[in-house]
Amino acid sequence: MSKIKWKGGTLLAPVPPVMVSCGTMEKPNIITVAWTGLINTIPPKTYISVRPSRHSYELIKESGEFAINLTPTSLVKQADWCGIHTGRKVDKFARCNLTPDQANEISAPLILECPISLECKVFDIIPMGTHDMFLADIVAVDVAPGLLDKSGRLCIERAHLAAFAHGEYFELGKSLGKFGFSVAKKKKHKNKQPKEEK
Ligand SMILES: Cc1cc2nc3c(=O)[nH]c(=O)nc-3n(C[C@H](O)[C@H](O)[C@H](O)COP(=O)(O)O)c2cc1C
Repeated sequence: MSKIKWKGGTLLAPVPPVMVSCGTMEKPNIITVAWTGLINTIPPKTYISVRPSRHSYELIKESGEFAINLTPTSLVKQADWCGIHTGRKVDKFARCNLTPDQANEISAPLILECPISLECKVFDIIPMGTHDMFLADIVAVDVAPGLLDKSGRLCIERAHLAAFAHGEYFELGKSLGKFGFSVAKKKKHKNKQPKEEK
């Protein structure tokens, strides 16, 4: 045992510091959330864990809808600000110069300035202790056209996404290889990689 043992804690890193938009186009709100992740591929499902004391908790519980907006490094300050102030007292969209954007499948707005948004519909709420876990179907994904190359492939590096680790924001570094690169055979003409399946 060469590592130092600490008691159990939330030291999973990095996690995405996403900006979750909720409410309506007329009365929108944003809550910054780091306790989020994917839980199923087909159909695509996600979760966010939210403390019942948050203003957004009531909005999401009432409507059963929210959008997960991925945070680019250019919006980290706004994400942090939205994670400190409550929508009970302030219009976070207005204060952060962000634009509510009409979603396709939900009535909650998207954040126009975020490069990728996941439209989510809640199918269960599980109390965990400090937080309640909102389990949700991802019913649509909205991508900024600038992230696509000529053939329509998503170039995620163009989104310049931020990461959150041990209470600090970071920018993603350089690509280290594509999924399956460790087993991909190098052929002159056909460089077949294993199909990504999670
Ligand atoms: C980086 C970051 C991550 C956060 N993650 C969560 C989270 O996962 N769940 C949560 O309930 N609050 C989280 N918060 C705190 C809320 O964003 C914060 O309490 C916010 O002011 C709530 O806004 P509201 O009252 O308008 O809903 C986080 C804050 C920051 C800055």
